[in-house]
Amino acid sequence: MPEIRRIGVLTGGGDAPGLNAVIRAVVKAACNSRIEVLGLEDSFDGLIEAGRSRILRPNDVAGILRLGGTILGTTNRGNPFAYQVNTSEGKRDYSTRVIETFHLLGLDALVVIGGDGTLAISYEFFKKGVPVVGVPKTIDNDIVGTVNCFGFDTAVNFATDAIDRLHTTAEAHHRVMVVEVMGRYAGWIALHSGMAGGADVILIPEIPYDLERVAACIRDRDKLGARFSIVVIAEGAHPKDGAVALIEAAHGGHVERLGGIGIRCAAQLEELTGKETRYVVLGHLQRGGSPTAFDRTLATRFGGKAVELLIKGQFGKMVANHPPDLVPIPIGEVVGKTKTVPLDYDLLLTARALGVSFGD
Ligand code: F6P
Repeated sequence: MPEIRRIGVLTGGGDAPGLNAVIRAVVKAACNSRIEVLGLEDSFDGLIEAGRSRILRPNDVAGILRLGGTILGTTNRGNPFAYQVNTSEGKRDYSTRVIETFHLLGLDALVVIGGDGTLAISYEFFKKGVPVVGVPKTIDNDIVGTVNCFGFDTAVNFATDAIDRLHTTAEAHHRVMVVEVMGRYAGWIALHSGMAGGADVILIPEIPYDLERVAACIRDRDKLGARFSIVVIAEGAHPKDGAVALIEAAHGGHVERLGGIGIRCAAQLEELTGKETRYVVLGHLQRGGSPTAFDRTLATRFGGKAVELLIKGQFGKMVANHPPDLVPIPIGEVVGKTKTVPLDYDLLLTARALGVSFGD
């Protein structure tokens, strides 16, 4: 097993509260095992351009445990396999440069902290011989193979707080409030925050909805004397006979951007119910701020485990949470898949049992 003396760490994809906690844990655990850590800036860009990396010592990560964002910067538009450059040997992508820089910087291994896209890139580099360990990150909680990711709990707590606040104003004005939360392909945030916040309707990508059903639920509540309703809708939810609300279609290495389903849903519900309806888009607020205690702890465990795996030579693996343990699973088993909410998930069944409408 090759000795690990110097590792690189990078964060890729959309930021999630807890990234800094992982970086801190990686730096502290590595340095305590006499491994030097190089922080690579803006995802794989840190390996494309010279001068976009810096040594991280324990002092450099002091105080970042509670900070959102990432001290290394990130991008969700930086796939080195997608950039084409003209060379004397024809068109080549930037991946060769990444591997050259990896060796030039004297790195023995990489810790890659990211979502599905970033993990997929790291898997390609692993197949090209770069020793990689992955750490899963997403507020959407949709990475397969791990029960959860850091960032999700913080996002759910923020959304729950928002729903609590919307409850009082909705009740005061006898209105319908539609809250659009993140969740491109999976409804985890909508379901968990909706249930924690006591929403009446939860619309998620996994269950295409019929707004007539939602309107009927709102009318029923009115008849029972509850003259307000809270509708939580994931950005990736869509009607039975319609498409998702798209801001920008996928192109090149860029994934599609969603948004706008909340306003659309609110306008249609106002028309169907005759009730005043307002909407709120929580958007990137869900990704900001300080991570919860749960996310700080999970992120710290992930970082510590990643270093342990590197030392043990367990490359091409992603740290996964299988409570009560953290286990290594092959990155190849994770990429290109999405962990959606199972239709028999107990929280979903409980929601139905409690009378929450999913619009189906
Ligand atoms: O994947 C996490 C996520 O926050 C999604 O919920 C959302 O659709 C997307 O990222 C937004 O990405 P961007 O920051 O590029 O707008």
